[in-house]
Amino acid sequence: MTQPADCADACLPIRSDMDLVWVRQHVRRTAAQLGFGLVEQTRLVTAASELARNTLVHGGGGVVESTCLTSGRVRGLRLVFADEGPGIPDPDRGSLGAGRPSGGGLGIGLGGTRRLVHEFSVESAAGTGTRVTVASWAATPPRGAP
Ligand SMILES: Nc1ncnc2c1ncn2[C@@H]1O[C@H](COP(=O)(O)OP(=O)(O)OP(=O)(O)O)[C@@H](O)[C@H]1O
Ligand SMILES: [Mg+2]
Repeated sequence: MTQPADCADACLPIRSDMDLVWVRQHVRRTAAQLGFGLVEQTRLVTAASELARNTLVHGGGGVVESTCLTSGRVRGLRLVFADEGPGIPDPDRGSLGAGRPSGGGLGIGLGGTRRLVHEFSVESAAGTGTRVTVASWAATPPRGAP
């Protein structure tokens, strides 16, 4: 896997509601650059929005690292949401979205987010913070791609 030349990696802070707006804009723009269709963009933006809100609300703030991926002619985007908050005591339960909706988000939760992306993993334990990694791939190579 190599990095596409026309797509920049980024690390964005998640410290405020305004940062959530920047994260959504960044993911939308980058996914479009990578050739994601509108529906694919929206799925990834929705997932990113939920995870960024979790980082802010439950994790006490953190960052999202965004990495552009290339595998053959297919391009993708990986997002890692990281915080040093209290952690998810039981990530498997959390992954199923068994928590009570916090009210601030779309109510999709971790369980719904997992179904919006191609790859999903949670690394978390009480006291060590949380890293949620998601990745999705564009269905078709961008127009004009060799
Ligand atoms: N980054 C995080 N740090 C600590 N705990 C987290 C984190 N992300 C999720 N959790 C825990 O996992 C639970 C489930 O998260 P999930 O996103 O599914 O639901 P929610 O945020 O409570 O509600 P909503 O449906 O509004 O997203 C949360 O209630 C919280 O306890
Ligand atoms: Mg949530």
